[in-house]
Amino acid sequence: MTERDDECELGYWLGQPFWGRGYMPEAASELLRHGFEDLGMTTIWCGYFDGNQKSKRVQEKLGFVFHHTCNEVPVPLLNEIRVGHTNVMTKDCWEKLYK
Ligand SMILES: CC(C)(COP(=O)(O)OP(=O)(O)OC[C@H]1O[C@@H](n2cnc3c(N)ncnc32)[C@H](O)[C@@H]1OP(=O)(O)O)[C@@H](O)C(=O)NCCC(=O)NCCS
Repeated sequence: MTERDDECELGYWLGQPFWGRGYMPEAASELLRHGFEDLGMTTIWCGYFDGNQKSKRVQEKLGFVFHHTCNEVPVPLLNEIRVGHTNVMTKDCWEKLYK
């Protein structure tokens, strides 16, 4: 999602038995803190494929803001083309939400 040294991408995966307990929003909020405070990031990107409502919801709860949609994202491992939505959080936005 970015090639800049002061920006990064957040991705996550949780074993199915542990879904729905709020673990990922809690864990990811700490990763946002780590990215902005410890690693000096200015912007953190995050995305999900169209239809992944659980992941969309995680990003909404974290405070990510919609940036753009790409209608043709190749997924070579599945031999598919998917629609991908990309969200963003700037450090300013993070400070307003979390500080
Ligand atoms: C996306 C994922 C990380 C969510 O983690 P989580 O710890 O379950 O997140 P939450 O508990 O906050 O749940 C997120 C939302 O999904 C819903 N949800 C969780 N488990 C669900 C289930 N089994 N069925 C339907 N909805 C479910 C919750 O209701 C919640 O929304 P709400 O807060 O409005 O009620 C987890 O589902 C996952 O690892 N999925 C597979 C990998 C993946 O898709 N990763 C993201 C790639 S972009």
